[in-house]
Amino acid sequence: MNDQKKERFLITGGSGFVGWNLCNYLKGRHEVFATYYSHPVNSAGCNFLQIDLTSRSRVLETIARVKPSIILHAAALSSPDLCEKDRSRAREVNVMGTQHILDAACACGIRVVYISTDLVFDGETGNYDETCKPRPINYYGETKREGEKLCRNSPADSLVVRITLQYGWGNGENVSFSDWLMASLTAGKQVSLFADQYRTLTYVMDTARGLELAALQGSAGNLYHLTGPERIDRYEFGSIFASIFNFPLDLLKKSLMQDVPARAPRPKDVSLNGDRFFSQFGFRPRGIREGLAAMAKSVQGPSGQGFKGSSE
Ligand SMILES: NC(=O)c1ccc[n+]([C@@H]2O[C@H](COP(=O)([O-])OP(=O)(O)OC[C@H]3O[C@@H](n4cnc5c(N)ncnc54)[C@H](OP(=O)(O)O)[C@@H]3O)[C@@H](O)[C@H]2O)c1
Repeated sequence: MNDQKKERFLITGGSGFVGWNLCNYLKGRHEVFATYYSHPVNSAGCNFLQIDLTSRSRVLETIARVKPSIILHAAALSSPDLCEKDRSRAREVNVMGTQHILDAACACGIRVVYISTDLVFDGETGNYDETCKPRPINYYGETKREGEKLCRNSPADSLVVRITLQYGWGNGENVSFSDWLMASLTAGKQVSLFADQYRTLTYVMDTARGLELAALQGSAGNLYHLTGPERIDRYEFGSIFASIFNFPLDLLKKSLMQDVPARAPRPKDVSLNGDRFFSQFGFRPRGIREGLAAMAKSVQGPSGQGFKGSSE
């Protein structure tokens, strides 16, 4: 596919943190349709539709009506703790919902990019590339791994892109890690951040650019790791975040994963290696300081309003 041609994108999970930013990035460049489930949102230049991924007939009917050329499948139950608590719902949305998308795409000849996660790995070694064997340690990771397998075994024109923990501006509906950090520090609240959990955090607008490239130029059946270049723990990330947004550093407190009980087990180091993505597409997301500086320069969304719990 040609990078210059305007495509008709359908973004599932357009009301979520990643999907919302995908809408904002793509809407000036392509025709954009997006879905929400329980949070009706609006963004000028983007056509929003309500959809429940667990309803096969509704998914098939909506996709046949919109007739996108590409689906970016971002919708998911994305909170590991929630997935652990309600396994059957997690399976319905993350696994069966993905199957419905693939069936519709197959029937209509549509390309699908399945957005997966670094949490398919067990976190024992870090620096995972596309040849490393996934071994999820929580149910969220398991359902995302199953979604990947469905894509790779599907006759649909589909590919899988694993992304990492994201930061950027949200829409105030589904709360990301950086939305929570921004809201807490703005309110002058002390935040406790893990100093022993490592991710290669990525600026979500760079992820949007990478997903566009993979959608337009990636080969069917392939798997890509789209990641920022720096392995960093959450405390260290918080310190850079605080310094760029001028928050007092003494609001940050170091903690360890073992000190904070959680329903879903958390892997220690799921840093990804993005060399293959770079060699194939000539694109690598920015490092943390540059990404946060770009975020600080960009327009702030309505973060801080209506926070209802945190996703990944
Ligand atoms: N955010 C990250 O740091 C991160 C990291 C790695 C991978 N990912 C992956 O990126 C994707 C997006 O994550 P995110 O953080 O943007 O998630 P999110 O903010 O929690 O948003 C989830 C989206 O899925 C939609 N959804 C939930 N249940 C649905 C259903 N039954 N039918 C249709 N839509 C439904 C939600 O709609 P409503 O809100 O309208 O109900 C929302 O738009 C996920 O696939 C996740 O695995 C995210």
